[in-house]
Amino acid sequence: MHLPTAASLLLSALPLAVATPTPGHGHKEKGLNTYAKEAGLKYFGAATDSPGFRERAGYEAQYPKYDQIMWKSDEFGQTTPTNGQKWLFTEPQQGVFNYTEGNIVTSLAKKHGKYLRCHALVWHSQLAPWVEAKTDWTKDELRAVIVNHVTRVAKAWKGQCYAWDVVNEALEEDGSYRKSVFYNVLGEEYIKLAFATAAKVDPKAKLYYNDYNLEWPHAKTEGTQRIVKMLQKAKIRIDGVGLQAHLIAEQAPTLDQHIDAIKGFTKLGVEVALTELDIRLQVPANATNLAQQKEAYKNAVGACVQVKGCIGVTIWDFYDPFSWVPYVFPGEGAPLLWFEDWSKHPAYYGVQEALKNGTKKGKPGKWW
Ligand SMILES: *[C@@H]1O[C@H](CO)[C@@H](O)[C@H](O)[C@H]1NC(C)=O
Ligand SMILES: *[C@@H]1O[C@H](CO)[C@@H](O)[C@H](O)[C@H]1NC(C)=O
Ligand SMILES: *[C@@H]1O[C@H](CO)[C@@H](O)[C@H](O)[C@H]1NC(C)=O
Repeated sequence: MHLPTAASLLLSALPLAVATPTPGHGHKEKGLNTYAKEAGLKYFGAATDSPGFRERAGYEAQYPKYDQIMWKSDEFGQTTPTNGQKWLFTEPQQGVFNYTEGNIVTSLAKKHGKYLRCHALVWHSQLAPWVEAKTDWTKDELRAVIVNHVTRVAKAWKGQCYAWDVVNEALEEDGSYRKSVFYNVLGEEYIKLAFATAAKVDPKAKLYYNDYNLEWPHAKTEGTQRIVKMLQKAKIRIDGVGLQAHLIAEQAPTLDQHIDAIKGFTKLGVEVALTELDIRLQVPANATNLAQQKEAYKNAVGACVQVKGCIGVTIWDFYDPFSWVPYVFPGEGAPLLWFEDWSKHPAYYGVQEALKNGTKKGKPGKWW
């Protein structure tokens, strides 16, 4: 993948304050997490993969620069391990648990004092093959599998996770349940079982339902509201809804659509976070689609800043070469905030504007 050197594109996008700092005032742009906290959010964060597991070979020389921004700057106050806590890694064979991969990022988060979002306990994808290989699970057997997995894995990181994505992507686009192995055997009971178990094991972690395409109101957001209400009715704790926000620059939701979608959840008394934000475009990037991307980032982050109860934003890695996008969407890429050459996307300044725009939300957390 060849990305343009961004310098020329960036010149027009750089805010005046950066191009001409006022002499003598010690003017210095702050990192995104600092602006996020000033805007009343808990964090602005970036997911990251285990060192050594980063998707592209040949980028080892970039690791020091990457690590400096990831862990030592004030750009990010939070992280999520992109892979290591998934079922495939944590219980590769039935009853055989392995936390090595997950511990890499979680221990870095601890060392550098970042909030940790833990991800994900029950998900149909990146699932250990043994769960789907067996086609004749009885309800009791699969209940025991879910309880054991959630109990062991949540216990392994007990007290370290600001939030856990307890159930990930349980819905189809029309709001009906995805026909996963869990749903096929247990129906919606599996969702209740996962949340009830996680609540018992880690009383301090915020328990989230997490899914994609929840950033504008439609059938899937309604399906998610139905899950929240189902758990509340059963008196099972759910604290938050994660809007993954894997968006497309050329057709991203408007600011108002984002706001309406977020409010659709906060009005139920749960908090919201953007948990996996990235905004892909047709490569090669050019001034037009980078401007669309900037607007799209500004609207997504701006909506979170403006709605009380939206507590934080996580981008799904921050350096374009480490994004999952080109592997899954051929012809698309450049979805993050730093280009391959480490120059910043115009979208970086869109995020910055959105964060600087909100400074009066009050303390997040106990807002309802
Ligand atoms: C546990 O996972 C790590 C990292 O993926 C791997 O290197 C190691 O071999 C695994 N341990 C066992 C006992 O399978
Ligand atoms: C920018 O890229 C898009 C998508 O590939 C393309 O449709 C458009 O024509 C390009 N615009 C310019 C100004 O190059
Ligand atoms: C900036 O804040 C104002 C006032 O809260 C709001 O009306 C506007 O939509 C915000 N802009 C963005 C991009 O969030």
